[in-house]
Amino acid sequence: MKDLVRQKLSIHVEIMDLLNEQIKKEAHSSSIYLAMASWCDHNALDYSAEFFYEQSLEEREHMMKIFRFINDNGGTAYSPEVSTINHEYNSLEEIFETALDQEIKITKSIHNIVFQCRKLQDLTTENFLQWFVHEQMEEEQTIRRALELFDLMGSEGLALKLLDERIPHIRKK
Ligand SMILES: [Fe+2]
Ligand SMILES: [Fe+2]
Repeated sequence: MKDLVRQKLSIHVEIMDLLNEQIKKEAHSSSIYLAMASWCDHNALDYSAEFFYEQSLEEREHMMKIFRFINDNGGTAYSPEVSTINHEYNSLEEIFETALDQEIKITKSIHNIVFQCRKLQDLTTENFLQWFVHEQMEEEQTIRRALELFDLMGSEGLALKLLDERIPHIRKK
């Protein structure tokens, strides 16, 4: 019986481990964005704060998608521990630069799992991860649009307030 159950696992065991690592990374992203939301809130950048609260929620949803995928396919998903979250930032621009850096890391990580899926012929997970590949492309584009605003508008005094008001529009609906 046990052999039969294992045969039915459509996800490769090595890929399961990578997915559990990805759970940690998405949880880490969620916490990073929550810290960024807090910084924005304290600096009266209300629209940016809202943006990062929402980003934080989305990262948790990403985490849960992977969590359920593992459990639904006979694996065991592990609840992630999150540590070392930075709360110190010097500017909103630094926050968005850090966010882009984080998204690029996540994109590379997702792509790496897709490459491993191909190597191990795990079509089920490769197919599942296509949504994430697309999502990462959009997330990077969104943050890059925010960074363009800093080049365009500057970030001193009133410009920063006006820039903050543009933040809700950087997401493509
Ligand atoms: Fe994510
Ligand atoms: Fe993200």
